[in-house]
Amino acid sequence: MTRIGNHTRISDVIKADPGRYKAGIDWETDTIVSRRDRFYAASQRAFVPYRTPLIFRRGQDQYLWDEQGNQYLDCLSQNLCVSIGYNNPAVTAAVQHQAEQLQHCTTMFFHPVPAHFAEELAGKMPAGEEWVVHFMNSGAEAIDFALLLARSYTGNNDIISLANSYHGATFGAQSVTGISSFRHNISLLNGIQFTSNPDQYRGIHGNTVQPYLDDLDRTLLYGTSGQVAGLIVEPIQGYGGIVPLPAGYLPGAFERIRAAGGVCIVDEVQAGFGRTGGDYWSFALHQVVPDIVVLAKGIGNGYPLGAVVAKREVAEAMANKFYFNTYGANPVSCSAGRAVLKVIDQCNLIDNAKQVGLALLDVLKGVQEKYDIIGDVRGCGLMLAAELVRNQQTKEPAVEEMHELFQLTRKHGLVASKSGAHKNVLRICPPLCIQMEDVDFFEAAIANSFQDLYQQM
Ligand SMILES: Cc1ncc(COP(=O)(O)O)c(C=O)c1O
Repeated sequence: MTRIGNHTRISDVIKADPGRYKAGIDWETDTIVSRRDRFYAASQRAFVPYRTPLIFRRGQDQYLWDEQGNQYLDCLSQNLCVSIGYNNPAVTAAVQHQAEQLQHCTTMFFHPVPAHFAEELAGKMPAGEEWVVHFMNSGAEAIDFALLLARSYTGNNDIISLANSYHGATFGAQSVTGISSFRHNISLLNGIQFTSNPDQYRGIHGNTVQPYLDDLDRTLLYGTSGQVAGLIVEPIQGYGGIVPLPAGYLPGAFERIRAAGGVCIVDEVQAGFGRTGGDYWSFALHQVVPDIVVLAKGIGNGYPLGAVVAKREVAEAMANKFYFNTYGANPVSCSAGRAVLKVIDQCNLIDNAKQVGLALLDVLKGVQEKYDIIGDVRGCGLMLAAELVRNQQTKEPAVEEMHELFQLTRKHGLVASKSGAHKNVLRICPPLCIQMEDVDFFEAAIANSFQDLYQQM
């Protein structure tokens, strides 16, 4: 090994022979699979949606290519992380610049990039409040912090979450997740109560609002001390199968929670950053202002980043408590985040999400008219879904059919996903840069997938 003596810098040593420090990549299909099987832990290996592994080699904008060179229209955005498209040049430039300056700076020291980004994020929140930001590394970590903040600020313990919600995989985030397949059979956080989710298609009170608010009243009355730390909610449930909460629910729910001494936490991890097509935040479509907002995924276009944005008064509850994330506010990730905001604004991507989203929704509705296996088509912006059922009356989930359809969408050039508590929902969430010109391809791929499915059935 080369010795680094007096005044010899490691960067000079490396620059003298850069090839020596380059880690090789083996792109051979079988070895990619076998290496992963051999060295990934079961916990990271198990989640494989397709029958045969899908290996991505390259992406550009809304398109992906596998290792064999097949092209796909991406309708998943790497689980909604790649908000403004693959290899976005603005993100690349920002990240490259920052990586060349300083690759990490922990928050005990000062750096302008995260501070700029905090200011810019706060500026995207509703006017009339003073917002502050705590940066994290992932959505679940941010959810945990939001729960801690709600409890610290209110001095109360009980937290209410909705059935069919997904908030992440850490102990805290899992505790407020209302889908059994995402929860582990262990003791999770105490003081969590679930209330019915106002799912207008499948919910226990059907297509209504007030009965769901009555359920919340009952949860508060019978399941808590009457004083709560807060409510946590996704205005459009993501992994739950793209379930938009109906107009009127959130204002009623927020009023009840605040009357019980709690704060309102909105999880914008999937729906934020313009994805729903009307505003930066999905809560804005409900005319409510939360106390705490949780951000991740689309915030960094795939760079690991999360954030909790809170009203200053609420966040001050932690002023005298130690809470530190070693990688929180990493300047490279924050540079990516700043570029995301610029691109969303300069390229009018929120409006694009709305317009292209409407066209994609029309396609799904058109297919629904032809195939009675589609029980419901829903969503807004670029958070869309088609729910498959065996019977329009009983709404029996068409789970195996969905699994087949999902494989077929891949064959026809789409990357989509299965979601919902029963995994019978086709989820369509492309990057915000998808174009009207992509709609014809999408239509043909969806139509061909359903046609093949019916031939197989
Ligand atoms: C709505 C929602 N909240 C929180 C999370 C957790 O985010 P992460 O996977 O970054 O921990 C997710 C992840 O899918 C999510 O969909």
